[in-house]
Amino acid sequence: MNILISLLMLFVFTQPSTDKKATVSTTADAVTEVVIEGNDQMRFNLTEIKVKAGSTVKLTLKHVGKLPKQAMGHNWVLLNADVVVKDFAMSAMSARDNDYIPKDSKDVIVHTDLVGGGESTTIEFEAPAKGEYTFICSFPGHYGLMKGTFIVE
Ligand code: CU
Repeated sequence: MNILISLLMLFVFTQPSTDKKATVSTTADAVTEVVIEGNDQMRFNLTEIKVKAGSTVKLTLKHVGKLPKQAMGHNWVLLNADVVVKDFAMSAMSARDNDYIPKDSKDVIVHTDLVGGGESTTIEFEAPAKGEYTFICSFPGHYGLMKGTFIVE
């Protein structure tokens, strides 16, 4: 049994990280760790993140660029399934004093802080119900390129 687990772990950790897919590792206490990067070219390195229903997600957003957050800030915002992304992005634009998260928004499931080049931020949350959700960066003008699908299965 232990050998099997060791082999499994070896298999998991020696897999080359396929680009565009989440590098997900599940620890013993069922926490799914996700690391997503944003860069100075206004891109996330992942366009899809898959997690299991009922899991706790520990997500780290790393800004791997150099530009300050006033010019190239990034956040990671998970939106409810029925949200029209364009409409949300418009309202986020006017929420500059709240790091581009509209206050009391029912559209947001969870979000990270806004970070600039070289910074990172981590949040932990329970995976929402099974389904497909959209994640974006809500910094003005970024959502067109910085978005992806968050799948709970
Ligand atoms: Cu951004």
